[in-house]
Amino acid sequence: MRRLFPVTDETDETAARPGAPAPDTGQAPGASAAGGSVDREWSLEELAEAYAYPEPPPGGREPWLRANMVSTLDGAAQHEGRSHPISSAADMRIFGTLRGLADVVIVGAETVRQEGYRPAREREAFAAMREAAGQGPVPAIAVVSSSLELDFSWPLFTSPLVPTLVLTGAAAAPDRVAAAEKAGARVVIAGDGMGVDPVRAVRALAELGMTRLLTEGGPRLLGQLVVSGVLDELCLTVSPMLTAGDAQRIAGGPSLTVPKRFALASLLEEEGFLFSRYRRT
Ligand SMILES: NC(=O)c1ccc[n+]([C@@H]2O[C@H](COP(=O)([O-])OP(=O)(O)OC[C@H]3O[C@@H](n4cnc5c(N)ncnc54)[C@H](OP(=O)(O)O)[C@@H]3O)[C@@H](O)[C@H]2O)c1
Repeated sequence: MRRLFPVTDETDETAARPGAPAPDTGQAPGASAAGGSVDREWSLEELAEAYAYPEPPPGGREPWLRANMVSTLDGAAQHEGRSHPISSAADMRIFGTLRGLADVVIVGAETVRQEGYRPAREREAFAAMREAAGQGPVPAIAVVSSSLELDFSWPLFTSPLVPTLVLTGAAAAPDRVAAAEKAGARVVIAGDGMGVDPVRAVRALAELGMTRLLTEGGPRLLGQLVVSGVLDELCLTVSPMLTAGDAQRIAGGPSLTVPKRFALASLLEEEGFLFSRYRRT
């Protein structure tokens, strides 16, 4: 793993030595210069530093929603219905790190169904950091669904370390809400009809004390988060693969009238995979 951006001067070599302090790059807050431009394996602690959530303002922590997605060179967000074939070991390390930093992982029901989501695993490497940050052992998983057509016998609902949340609308089928709650899930209403309003979802999670928000998609959910203006940051892995075909891209659904501009905060590289981080301007 090496850092391509922000670019640093020769002091970079110092930063590349384990335990050495990162150089002052003069970058904006959040444009972390952790790690270095020398290609070597980064520890999970270094990745956690590079992907730290923004420091809270004096008035207290505001919700910050980042998305973590992977795309091929030709824009495919999945291959044969899953993202795993276009991912890599380094991508999975960053995936795990982003979970290690988050209070909650928001995910669309179709991704849960297709990828067979399981509860988040406790990771020794993040235990002390999470405790110091006032976080539970793992992030909660928050499944967004209007149909609640989910298999509530899955471990995701019956045996997570912290209760799984189900975000849905007020008009959701009462028997499905009851089934979710019976399984141990916490149902959070964040919409007046069948669907979830992304702005309300972010507010509802903040009211539960969850402000370090991470979404893992999928594309139909991410599109709504983009259009509703609640997405603060995109951690995008560009996978050095071409798939052709008609796979979804990372965000779908109705488009914005005017494209939304994001600014590059950092860019890492390993084995041809690019790990970018863009923040809203
Ligand atoms: N490349 C990547 O990084 C990445 C990441 C994640 C997923 N994926 C891939 O993307 C595919 C699945 O993504 P997808 O876009 O089809 O589906 P998705 O966004 O994961 O889930 C769509 C479902 O979420 C629920 N939903 C979405 N918006 C909602 C709202 N506003 N209110 C209530 N419920 C809402 C609905 O569930 P109900 O039908 O239950 O009502 C909807 O059918 C899979 O192939 C997966 O592998 C790729």
